[in-house]
Amino acid sequence: MSVNLKDDEESMLNGKYGPGMQMAMTIVVRMAEVLEAIELLAVSQAHIDGCGLMSDSGLEFAEKLVALNARVSVPTTLNMIPLDLQNWRKQGVPENYALKATRMANAYIQMGCIPTWTCAPYQGYLAPHYRQQIAWGESNAIVYANSVFGARTNRYADYMDICAAITGRVPKYGLHLMENRRGQVLIRLVDLPQALFAKNSFYPVLGYLIGKLVQDRVPVIDGLTANLSSDDFKALGAAAASSGAVGLIHIIGLTPEASTLEDAFQSSSPEETIDVHMDDLLGAKAELSHSSRINGKLDAVVLGCPHFSFMEFQTLVKLIRQIGRPLSPEVRLIILTNQISMGLLQRADLLDEITGFGAELVLDTCVFHSPIVSSGAQLIMTNSGKCAYYGPGELNTQVLFADLEDCLLSAVNGEITRKQDAWNRY
Ligand code: F3S
Repeated sequence: MSVNLKDDEESMLNGKYGPGMQMAMTIVVRMAEVLEAIELLAVSQAHIDGCGLMSDSGLEFAEKLVALNARVSVPTTLNMIPLDLQNWRKQGVPENYALKATRMANAYIQMGCIPTWTCAPYQGYLAPHYRQQIAWGESNAIVYANSVFGARTNRYADYMDICAAITGRVPKYGLHLMENRRGQVLIRLVDLPQALFAKNSFYPVLGYLIGKLVQDRVPVIDGLTANLSSDDFKALGAAAASSGAVGLIHIIGLTPEASTLEDAFQSSSPEETIDVHMDDLLGAKAELSHSSRINGKLDAVVLGCPHFSFMEFQTLVKLIRQIGRPLSPEVRLIILTNQISMGLLQRADLLDEITGFGAELVLDTCVFHSPIVSSGAQLIMTNSGKCAYYGPGELNTQVLFADLEDCLLSAVNGEITRKQDAWNRY
């Protein structure tokens, strides 16, 4: 099927704007053909996930675009870089890997991207607005942009994202179109104890369960407060976009286009209604832990997947003060974050307290892309549904899921510690 191109799009394809633009447009048009989109759509912002060092060919692709003079045509932020540029030597990252990662970073900067280096760009820089057409990579960011801001993006894969940023065009398809944003599955939260909604671990568990249940359909959640914090939705969306191919979650009262059930379903009926009870959540929570161990030593606690926000650091500092004991020398506390949160920590005079406690702040990168966790680690604990989901496969270690307080207590005690709370009272 041929794609109807406007005059300027034909010019991009024919090389009028240079070979870099031509290469990017060739890829965008080919994608439109594959998706059977009849035309392209202009986007006014992009977020690039393809800047991670997944393979040598990814680096070759980026450097080829640079050599062909490709430049982004819309404001474009960058997801994590494959290493902590400031601390990689201390972390034992091999020289050869660091060299390639630095080349990758430079290639994207040369193309005019903004070096935000974060998988939570929505919490610090260039948040899109309602109905804005954008092209974002990184699944957690995509679901956040669609669901919280009401911006419009598909789940853009690596390398397609930079082509969209260069051309400012994407296939007119999927979640860019209002009719495809209609809710499909109604998720009702039934008889859940109020105390559960106040627990930070509730949100990744719910997200993980929803992703599993709906896969690539659009869920509508009824029964969640619209006062959900940015970090709560971040955790929910990241987990849902890991266990399922979720790109948009309507939360009644929160998602701009879903103030009522009728709006969320665009006046039609749900294809399916699923009631979520406490037992379903307990089952999902158990699945997120890939070890059944309830006691014993652990090697590391990993926080910040997606990147830890300043608000999360504030909560962490409160817990550190409450616990009042230092980190166990046997356990590493690794916190992934970005330069924006780091700068705020310095201004708020909290950085020394956090590093004095023994936490290792890892900047701009990802635990799955940079060799931060030692290959000998047997057991790690995390408060992230996404990290728990991918951890065993990506890190070749056992992973326990827990809420932030249990993660911290375990890191201080040097062994698995779980408090009695709203989860285990039922
Ligand atoms: Fe971010 Fe890596 Fe987690 S990109 S969301 S820290 S898997």
